[in-house]
Amino acid sequence: MKLKNKSVIITGAGSGIGKACTQLFNQEGANIVLSDVNEEDLDKTIGTLNPKINSLKYKCDVTSKKDTKNLVNFTVKSLGSLDILINCAGVNPRNAPMEYDFEEIWDWVLSVNLKGSYLMSHFAVEKMKENGGGAILNIASIIGLVGYDEEISSGLSSYAHSKGGVVQLTRDMAVGFAKSNIRVNSLCPGYVETKLTQRLFEDKKILKHVKSLHPMGRLAELNEIANAALFLCSDDASFITGVNLPVDGGYTAR
Ligand SMILES: NC(=O)c1ccc[n+]([C@@H]2O[C@H](COP(=O)([O-])OP(=O)(O)OC[C@H]3O[C@@H](n4cnc5c(N)ncnc54)[C@H](O)[C@@H]3O)[C@@H](O)[C@H]2O)c1
Repeated sequence: MKLKNKSVIITGAGSGIGKACTQLFNQEGANIVLSDVNEEDLDKTIGTLNPKINSLKYKCDVTSKKDTKNLVNFTVKSLGSLDILINCAGVNPRNAPMEYDFEEIWDWVLSVNLKGSYLMSHFAVEKMKENGGGAILNIASIIGLVGYDEEISSGLSSYAHSKGGVVQLTRDMAVGFAKSNIRVNSLCPGYVETKLTQRLFEDKKILKHVKSLHPMGRLAELNEIANAALFLCSDDASFITGVNLPVDGGYTAR
C-alpha cells in the first residue's frame, strides 16, 4: 500500500475524477476526508469505500474562506495531521446557472477552479509546515496548457483562464514551499466522460471530434487519471515538484 496511514483531503470527491481518486487512495490505505459541495454525492462515494479504513465526509464550498479553513481544521482534528491535498473541485461554464450573464459566469468559474484551489492550499500549507511537509495536487487541464479547439469554444473561455491560473499557482507554490518539504504538482487531463462534460458529449459528432483531437484516438479513463494522481502524491514522486503533467493521450504533444 502506497499511502498507508496518510491523511488526505480530496475536494470534488462526490463525482468523476475526485471520486476515482478517493476510491484508489482508499485502496492504497489512506485516511481520507472526502469533501464536496454536493452532500448526496459524497454519501454515494462513501458507500463504495472499504469501511475498515477511516473515511470521513465534510461538506465544503471551496469558494468560501470559512468553509475551506474549517475543512482543513476538521481534518487535522479528526485524523491528526494533513499529508496530502487534492484540489479537484471544478466547474465548466457550460454548466453555469441559466440566469448568469457572461461576467457572472467568468467570476463563478474563476472562483471555484482557481480561488478554490488557492484557499484550500492556503490553509493546508500552514498545517503541512507544522507537520514537516506534504504533497498538494491540483487538477488543472490540458486547457490550462493550450488553447481550446475552435469547434469547442469560440475564445474568451473562463475555463481556460482558470486552468491556466491553476498551472501557474502550481509552479509558484512548488518553488515557494520546496524548502518546507511541500511538493506541489498538477495533473492536466485530456477529456474524460464525467458530469462536467456530459452536456458537451450529448452531441455525438462533438464526442467523435474530441476523441480525434487526442492522438491516441479516445478519451481518458477515470482510472488513468487516478493512477497518475497516486504517483504524484506518493513517495515514488519524492523529487518531483512544480510539474504540470498532461495525462492526455498526446493531446498537448501536437
Ligand atoms: N472531465 C474532463 O474532461 C476534465 C478534463 C480535465 C480536467 N478536469 C478537471 O477535473 C476536475 C474534476 O472534474 P470532473 O470531470 O470529475 O467533474 P465532475 O463534475 O464529475 O466533478 C466535479 C465535482 O466538483 C464539485 N464542486 C463543484 N463546485 C464546487 C464547489 N464550489 N465546492 C466544492 N465542490 C464543488 C461538484 O459537486 C462535483 O462533485 C475539475 O477541476 C475539472 O475541471 C476535467
